[in-house]
Amino acid sequence: MKAIQEFIKNTTNRFEVWDNLLRHHRPTQVAEVGVYKGKFSEHILKCFPEIQRYIMIDPWRHLPDWNKPANTEDEMFESFFHEAMRVTEFARDRRVVLRGKTTEVSHDIPDGSLDFAYIDGDHTLRGITIDLIQMYPKIKEGGWIGGDDFRPGIWEHPLNFEPSLVFPFVVHFAEAVGATLYAMPHAQFLIHKLSGAEFVFHDLTGKYQSTALRSQLVRM
Ligand SMILES: C[S@@+](CC[C@H](N)C(=O)[O-])C[C@H]1O[C@@H](n2cnc3c(N)ncnc32)[C@H](O)[C@@H]1O
Repeated sequence: MKAIQEFIKNTTNRFEVWDNLLRHHRPTQVAEVGVYKGKFSEHILKCFPEIQRYIMIDPWRHLPDWNKPANTEDEMFESFFHEAMRVTEFARDRRVVLRGKTTEVSHDIPDGSLDFAYIDGDHTLRGITIDLIQMYPKIKEGGWIGGDDFRPGIWEHPLNFEPSLVFPFVVHFAEAVGATLYAMPHAQFLIHKLSGAEFVFHDLTGKYQSTALRSQLVRM
C-alpha cells in the first residue's frame, strides 16, 4: 500500500497515476477496454516501449442499448476509430485492435495472459459488470486491473442518462473475488489479482464513504 501511496503523490491527472504505477511494474501485455480517440493508448504506448502487446477494445459504433452521452452516431465513431489508429500508428507492430464490444471480442484474449487491463468503456451497471467479469480472468496471477470513472456519486450525467456505477460495483466485485482494491485520485481504481489474498478496500482519497445507494436514489 505504501508504494501505491507514493505513486499517487502530487499527481495532477490520471495519466500521471498510471505512469508512476506502470513504471514500477513494467507490464508487457496490456489491454484497454474503451479506447475512443486513442488518447490513453497513445500515451501509454509512447511512455512504455517495453509493452509488446497492447490490445485496444472498442466497437467504435453506435450502440442502441448504451444510454450515455458519448454514444454518438456511427459516422462520428468511424472518425474516432481513424483518429485512434492515426495516433497509435507509431506502435502498429505492438497494438492489437479488437473492434467490438467486450462480449464480442474478449474470447480472443487467452486467460491469464495480461499484466494489466484498463477498463474505460461502458460505465453503467451493465457495462462495468460485464467488463470486470469478462476481463478479470484474462489477468495473470500478480497482475493488475484498473479503470476510470470510479466516482463516489452515481449521477455523473443528467437524469435522462443511465447512472454510472463503476463505484460501488468495483468494490463488490473485489469482495467477491477476494482481492485488494485501491481508490486512487482522479477517479481511478486499481485491483491487484493475487491468489490467497483477502478483500481489502484501501480508499487513498478519503472520498468513498459508503457503498449504499439509498441516499442517491429518489422515488420517481
Ligand atoms: C470514455 S471513452 C474511452 C476513453 C479512453 N479510454 C481514453 O482514456 O482516452 C468510452 C469508450 O467505450 C466504448 N464502449 C462503450 N461500450 C462498450 C463495450 N460494451 N465494450 C467496449 N467498449 C465500449 C465507446 O465506444 C467509447 O469509445
